[in-house]
Amino acid sequence: MDRLLVTGGAGFIGSNFVHYLMAHTDARVTVLDKLTYASTKESLEGLPEDRVKLVVGDIADAAVVDPLVAEHDAVVHYAAESHNDNSLHDPSPFIQTNIMGTFVILEAVRKHGVRLHHISTDEVYGDLELDDPKRFTEDTPYNPSSPYSASKAGSDHLVRAWVRSFGVQATVSNCSNNYGPWQHIEKFIPRQITEVIDGRRPKLYGSGENVRDWIHADDHSSAVWTILNKGAIGETYLIGADGERSNLEVVQQILKHFGRPEDDFDHVNDRAGHDLRYAIESGKLRSELGWEPKFQDFEDGLGRTIEWYQEHQDWWRPAKDATEAAYAAKGQ
Ligand code: NAD
Ligand code: DAU
Repeated sequence: MDRLLVTGGAGFIGSNFVHYLMAHTDARVTVLDKLTYASTKESLEGLPEDRVKLVVGDIADAAVVDPLVAEHDAVVHYAAESHNDNSLHDPSPFIQTNIMGTFVILEAVRKHGVRLHHISTDEVYGDLELDDPKRFTEDTPYNPSSPYSASKAGSDHLVRAWVRSFGVQATVSNCSNNYGPWQHIEKFIPRQITEVIDGRRPKLYGSGENVRDWIHADDHSSAVWTILNKGAIGETYLIGADGERSNLEVVQQILKHFGRPEDDFDHVNDRAGHDLRYAIESGKLRSELGWEPKFQDFEDGLGRTIEWYQEHQDWWRPAKDATEAAYAAKGQ
């Protein structure tokens, strides 16, 4: 595992993974990233130049992917269109990148016999009722709701088919909602933090009772590194840190951090097909591979994330006006 190709490594979770590798391993990394609106080169700034190289390119372009894959020991595949709301507006890039792109990666690792770890989401399982004692496990049937989650479900199925039919050496992980530094401000937590920094009110879709299961991006990274090194080929591992909170609770926690009243938010138009609750049972990863999350206290991790956005306004400010204008046009 000395030479890793990390697709989508200039995005939120991919860049956190590259930072994690630099801090905790000796791996050398090539990031393959198309540098879409969701990415920035700044997220990779300050990393050792002799260990991290950025290649700007499309994972759906076999002429770019094939020779790169041949030069590496493993591919860690993060690249995707990742925002549910965008997939409701225009599903096309989600099909192209998440399904066709994954197909191109699979053909390259098959040809060159290179190990693959495919990054996926808990959203492939659909949603749970608020009062359901069950959580998602590796055996939960797939039931995706949005074009985004359906495209991720499709990519997961492709990976498993390539393992079974062609003997591709791959593992899959499905993780819950990540928070932490370098997350685009279109997403829930950074949107609300930056709204409050700018003196506006947080915006809750619908009732705000929807529940997400939050995990710090650093813990996602340590889980992926564990699976790469100890995971069994062909297996799927769910990644989660027991961080269930309603959207209302998260907004109130952000307001509390800033010393603002806990009802100082607005309800805005709901998301079409809005999944009610996600919850991960990560016992397989913990008992079989010995992984544990470090950020056990969500409120502490959220506080550090708020401070990061306060200290990195140069990074997010260029995207803020356009992001809010797009939301305002939808009544969100
Ligand atoms: P992101 O949108 O922040 O980053 C995606 C990255 O992929 C960007 O750098 C973008 O430029 C790149 N990219 C997009 N299309 C590309 C293409 N055709 N070729 C090359 N690069 C391309 O997303 P994220 O939140 O960091 O998510 C990363 C992965 O993790 C995705 O596969 C997502 O499904 C999965 N995931 C995300 C979460 C979450 O909470 N954000 C949770 C579980 C799983
Ligand atoms: O569960 C994993 C998934 O988590 C990943 O696969 C996705 O890539 C990632 O974007 C995330 O999906 P969500 O749709 O859960 O995340 P988002 O940040 O868009 O929204 C989180 C919740 O907050 C959701 O219930 C919608 C709500 N929301 C979102 C925004 C942007 C609001 O209430 N207000 C908002 O302004």
